[in-house]
Amino acid sequence: MIREASPTDLPVLRDIERAAGAPFLAVGMAAIAEDEPLSIDELTRYQRAGRAWVWGTPPVGYVLADEVDGYAHVEQVSVHPGHSRHGIGRALIDHVGAWAARRGLAGLTLTTFADVPWNAPYYARLGFVVVTDLTPGLRAIRAHEAAIGLDAWPRVAMRRDG
Ligand SMILES: CC(C)(COP(=O)(O)OP(=O)(O)OC[C@H]1O[C@@H](n2cnc3c(N)ncnc32)[C@H](O)[C@@H]1OP(=O)(O)O)[C@@H](O)C(=O)NCCC(=O)NCCS
Repeated sequence: MIREASPTDLPVLRDIERAAGAPFLAVGMAAIAEDEPLSIDELTRYQRAGRAWVWGTPPVGYVLADEVDGYAHVEQVSVHPGHSRHGIGRALIDHVGAWAARRGLAGLTLTTFADVPWNAPYYARLGFVVVTDLTPGLRAIRAHEAAIGLDAWPRVAMRRDG
């Protein structure tokens, strides 16, 4: 069910991202709900690098990864709300975990909202722990997030060793 994204998937990924933002409205985070998805150019960069994977044809979920300080960093994982809570998010994250292991990376990292139920508490259920002693790459990611206003709500970095 999980495969590498193709160029024709990319507009669908933007649709998934918009739909997956909607639940943030319910928790008073309208700015996040309305945040523009990554552009086709940005998605193309991940797709060409072989670091974008999708679930389904057409896709109903996707994950993007970077390499940051020896870990695979989950830049984005989104599942269309019409298909959520069926294990697709977990499978996508585990897929990146297996990819990271094959590349000799130490595990997975991500940054996320601390108090949103389907963010940090969800990743904790998947085995991630909050890290406070950030590597330089994670520090840079957090600084960028603060600069673009994401720190209006508490955010954390998390790690799952492979
Ligand atoms: C986070 C996300 C990728 C999870 O995908 P998923 O396929 O639903 O995840 P799984 O089926 O593996 O796990 C389901 C678990 O996620 C959590 N979860 C998912 N949606 C939730 C919601 N609306 N409210 C509360 N918890 C939720 C719960 O822990 C749930 O377990 P449960 O069904 O036993 O209660 C998906 O909810 C999503 O796309 N969210 C919006 C985008 C987002 O927040 N991305 C992460 C940004 S850092």
